[in-house]
Formats: sequence, structure tokens, C-alpha cells
Amino acid sequence: DRLPELLRRMPKAELHVHIEGTLEPELILALARRNQVDVGYDSVEALRQAYNFTDLQSFLDIYYAGACVLREARDFEDMARAYLERAAADNVVHAEIFFDPQTHTARGVSMEKVITGLHRACERARDEQGVNATLILCFLRHLSEEEAFETLEQALPFRDKFIGIGLDSSEVGHPPEKFARLFARCRELGLHLVAHAGEEGPPAYVWTALNLLRVERIDHGVQSAKDPMLMQRLAQDQIPLTVCPLSNLKLKVFPDLAAHNIGRLLGAGLCVTVNSDDPAYFGGYMNDNFVQTFAATGLGARQAYQLALNSFNASFVSERVKRNYG
Ligand code: ADE
Ligand code: ZN
Repeated sequence: DRLPELLRRMPKAELHVHIEGTLEPELILALARRNQVDVGYDSVEALRQAYNFTDLQSFLDIYYAGACVLREARDFEDMARAYLERAAADNVVHAEIFFDPQTHTARGVSMEKVITGLHRACERARDEQGVNATLILCFLRHLSEEEAFETLEQALPFRDKFIGIGLDSSEVGHPPEKFARLFARCRELGLHLVAHAGEEGPPAYVWTALNLLRVERIDHGVQSAKDPMLMQRLAQDQIPLTVCPLSNLKLKVFPDLAAHNIGRLLGAGLCVTVNSDDPAYFGGYMNDNFVQTFAATGLGARQAYQLALNSFNASFVSERVKRNYG
């Protein structure tokens, strides 16, 4: 069977990866030692054993704890460099990378260290791996609108180093409308807009992300399948969904990969993409997501080609560059 080989070799774009979610246990421990931070785990095995999630929140608690080892610009650079090397090995040629500055500024790490460290890794990846990497600043939705606006102010001196903004963290109880004014402001600033919606939360959150936040893509969005009118809207406007199958499996959004609705979303004509979300925590990078999902759901070469094409169409690279990929 040559399908796995096709999946691994085809050029692809990754549009939904949290850089803090690429911190492998080995790097967490190395940075803990370098920065003299106590993470509460003393071995790679002990850390990995804690990666036993029941839902989104149980993951987020550990993900935020792991991020505490990041203190200096070079820590952020080392983390992003490791991800970009790994992504290049999976034939990812374009990556739009989420980062969560509030996780760091709340611990006294400056916005400048976070952004300049990550940006240096992106520049180096272009030169050394031929990977085009850009950054998307995510606001934590469990925090207040006021804190989000403060974070935006802190980031604006580095406006040229990120292309857009997103919304992540605990979804249920923090609907998109909480950030309508923030997104309106970011829209005026010319930033691209995306938001997590319909991961664990209801289709109503996808509707408000589209209609009130006016996002260009929905991150996850798998709960949209519960609402036929929403499915119609997503298909009609070709709103991309950045789906993350192994994440959905590990956070128990679906009981197993065979039960994942990616085939149904694709079949309904939606612009679906495959992504890794937090690969260090969910047991797989891009090609693992593709190969395992195709094996479990019976998707074939036609869908492989469609997903790769969708990943470039859904990306924020210029229309001119897109024509070259097509
Ligand atoms: N932050 C990192 N990964 C996330 C996810 N899957 N959902 C919401 N917030 C996140
Ligand atoms: Zn995510």
C-alpha cells in the first residue's frame, strides 16, 4: 500500500500548531535545568506518564505547567527551531504558528523576548530548511477582555513579526462574543483573524466566531457537523476548518479515530485541513496525523490531494504564491 508514502511525501502547510505544544519532555527537562525552574517531574518517563488527558482542561493544566521552563529569548528560539526541523522532515513547507504570550508575560517574561526568540527561529527556518514560517498571536479566552487589550498593546511594537491573531484555551464558558471588540480592533490593524471554536464547544460558538469576530478560519470546528445550517454556511463560503485528529482523539472529542468526522466534513464540501495542534502532547506531528487518520477512516489518495491543496488555499500566503503551489 503506497498511500502512507504519498501522505508523508506530499508538500503540505500546517495552519494549527501551538508552539508551546511542541515542547518535548526532553526539552522541558533541559530548559528546566538551564533556567533552574522546578517543573515537578524529574524524568522524561514521569512527564509522559502525566500526559493522560480526559478533556481539554486536563491537557491545558499540564501544557501551561510545561511552558514555565521558557524564560529567555533563546529558549523560545530553541523550541521553535526544534519544531520547524521536525515539520520540515514531514514535508511541511509552510507553517503558521500559534503562540500564547499571556502564558509567559504573566510569569514576568517580556513580550520582546517571546516574539524575538520565535521570530529568529522562523527566519532561520527559511534560510536553512526552506520552510516559510509565520506567527499568529493567540489570546487566552479564559482571561479578560481587558487583559487581552493590554497584551495587544504590548505586542504592537512587534507588529511586523506576526501576521494575525487567534483565540485559544478553555472554550466552554468563554464564547467568542467576549472578544468582539478586541477582534474588531485587530481587524482595523490589518491582522488576520482566526479562533478556536467547536472543539468541545457548541455550533453556536462557530456561528459567533464567524458573524461577530469575523474570523477567516475556524480552528477545530468539528462540532459544526451537529448543525446542518452551519455546515451549509461553511461549505458555501469555503471557511477553512483546521482539524486536528490526534488532538481530538487524545482529548476525547471522539472515542477513536475511526469515529472522527473528517470524512463527513470533507464529503460535505468543506475546506478541511489536517494539523497537529500540540504534537509533543498528543503523540504525533503532521505525518502521524495524516497516516493514522487515513488508516482509521479509509480516506484515499483523492482526499490526500484535496487536504494538501486545502492547506495552501486556507493559508495566509499571498494569492500570487498560492498560484505557484497549485
Ligand atoms: N491551546 C493549546 N492547544 C489548545 C487546544 N487544542 N484548544 C484550545 N486551546 C489550546
Ligand atoms: Zn489548538
